[in-house]
Amino acid sequence: MSDLETRIGRWFDEIGAMTPANLEARRDVELVLTKLDDGQVRVAEVRDGEVVVHEWVRQAILLLFRLRGLERVEVGPFEYLDKLELKHDYERRGVRVVPGASARRGSYLAPGVVLMPSYVNVGAWVGENTMVDTWATVGSCAQIGANVHLAGGVGVGGVLEPANAVPVVIEDDAMIFSRCMVVEGARVGRGSVLGAGSLLNPSIPVIDAATGEEVSRGHVPDYCVAIAASRRREFPGGEFFLPCVLIIRRLEEGERHDKARLNAILRDHGVAT
Ligand SMILES: CC(C)(COP(=O)(O)OP(=O)(O)OC[C@H]1O[C@@H](n2cnc3c(N)ncnc32)[C@H](O)[C@@H]1OP(=O)(O)O)[C@@H](O)C(=O)NCCC(=O)NCCS
Repeated sequence: MSDLETRIGRWFDEIGAMTPANLEARRDVELVLTKLDDGQVRVAEVRDGEVVVHEWVRQAILLLFRLRGLERVEVGPFEYLDKLELKHDYERRGVRVVPGASARRGSYLAPGVVLMPSYVNVGAWVGENTMVDTWATVGSCAQIGANVHLAGGVGVGGVLEPANAVPVVIEDDAMIFSRCMVVEGARVGRGSVLGAGSLLNPSIPVIDAATGEEVSRGHVPDYCVAIAASRRREFPGGEFFLPCVLIIRRLEEGERHDKARLNAILRDHGVAT
């Protein structure tokens, strides 16, 4: 455990009493923010197949909102009042940002990321060459891998509170198609495809269409093509249909879904949406 981690833990024990006047705490928290911004620390990562959450980093973000006051920012005719500035230095970072996109400072955007008019919140990690398409939102602390496509209007949920909540994790090479909602610690495995309009959270069953088996709740395994579906459920008041995610196809390890290949070709030729 680093000294910084220990100190953040100590400040967090006193979070209720923290104000912008706590300069020592603020110095530590600002340092974590800078490290988050540059990808030197992250809120969570996948290690040996398991999601490991670095709780102290998330605690630093929560402290930040106690330790900073509101500040007015004006951009042309627009006025904002917030505690956190936007990210800067995109050219140095090798990130393309289309007008209308905003990412908050303390999010990490790796080289090759493309932000269409979209939003990336503090604590989020977006890996190399990932495309965040129009009106997609990447919530606080969400962890998005490399070569991922978040298609138009995808909502990746944020998770600052409650303590011990697990962020959404989308692993390398995944394709999350239009208007999916992936929230509250849900996970999409490497190379998997989530069909347009799917809802995934830790209580949504993920069912294998080949066997009928429920393989998990809220976790699409690696190299699956999964779509939004519904399942029959009996209640005292009658029979209803609740959402589920259905695996309709398994890909070979390393295989790209045809639609992913098409997207890659479009991007290579600079005609991404
Ligand atoms: C998930 C998806 C990739 C599946 O593609 P695919 O592997 O080629 O599968 P198919 O199109 O052959 O569809 C297989 C079955 O699933 C159904 N299906 C396809 N997409 C579905 C979806 N999003 N929700 C529910 N059912 C879906 C099809 O009707 C078909 O049913 P059938 O077997 O009875 O005919 C794709 O359909 C999808 O969601 N595309 C969205 C693309 C998108 O968002 N693009 C914008 C950003 S680039």
